[in-house]
Amino acid sequence: MALELIHKGKVRDLYRVRTPRDKLLLMVASDRVSAFDVVMKEEIRDKGKILTAMSEFWFQYLGDGFPSHLVKVAPTSVELGEELPDSFKGRAMLVKEAEMLPIECIVRGYLAGSALKEYQGSQTVHGQKLPVGLTGGMKFPEPLFTPSTKAESGHDVNISFDEAANIVGVEAATKVRDMSLEIYKIGASRAEQAGVVLADTKFEFGYIDGEIAICDEVLTPDSSRMWEGSELLAGGEPTAYDKQPLRDWLESTGWNKLPPPPSLPEVIRKSLRNRYIAVYERISGREFLG
Ligand SMILES: Nc1ncnc2c1ncn2[C@@H]1O[C@H](COP(=O)(O)OP(=O)(O)OP(=O)(O)O)[C@@H](O)[C@H]1O
Ligand SMILES: [Mg+2]
Repeated sequence: MALELIHKGKVRDLYRVRTPRDKLLLMVASDRVSAFDVVMKEEIRDKGKILTAMSEFWFQYLGDGFPSHLVKVAPTSVELGEELPDSFKGRAMLVKEAEMLPIECIVRGYLAGSALKEYQGSQTVHGQKLPVGLTGGMKFPEPLFTPSTKAESGHDVNISFDEAANIVGVEAATKVRDMSLEIYKIGASRAEQAGVVLADTKFEFGYIDGEIAICDEVLTPDSSRMWEGSELLAGGEPTAYDKQPLRDWLESTGWNKLPPPPSLPEVIRKSLRNRYIAVYERISGREFLG
């Protein structure tokens, strides 16, 4: 195969495409699943296809107002310079190669995850003092931009806006903050129409031809927390259509979060697959065809 593997992430494989003009990459989403930054031994059937379909939906939904790396989902043999291998079908996106910004752009609309842990420890979220007595699942008055470093290995570390500006420059930091908040709001509003709460999410940006563009995946259940809206409203612990059930199960085993991870039972894998498909279908209004 003439496609050259240049990067193997936890979930996606990046291949260099040998086209004469633009610098293009083929981004292929595998069925691998990671939790606590460790890749599980078992895969979630079709997960890469679901994530690809979801990102494709969002890139289209967001439209031209937000520059993105996407050139084409499922490129033809002409665009690719060769046939798309069968095993890549439904999970491949032709994208423009970006110079990635080494920060993760996290937006939080609700108190959850590491922000909840921080609040419970110090009554702060991302270093900001908050009122006493808040509980998990509470909506912030305004979504918060809470960037982190993008660690080459190990865990990402939360950083302030000023620290992010020190890393990428104040202009780029301002731009990605504003774009992240805007895209989160658009996404949360679309999800809400489908009865789903977009609690938080993570974006990655990069420079393409000198312009900041949204890269990687967008508003997927791998990169976001997604909850059943009606259950949150009723005051209960909402069903999570994201990786949370997997994290909960892993924690219940007493695993120390270092490799090797425990083997995932079939019931956990199936349930995650069904949740990802359900939330994709509800938010996009499209059917997952596999
Ligand atoms: N247009 C692009 N150009 C170059 N790199 C990109 C582009 N879009 C995404 N990436 C990078 O491709 C990789 C995608 O792989 P994946 O999502 O599996 O990675 P990850 O596990 O989150 O992180 P890592 O790559 O550090 O393992 C990420 O490193 C991401 O920053
Ligand atoms: Mg990633």
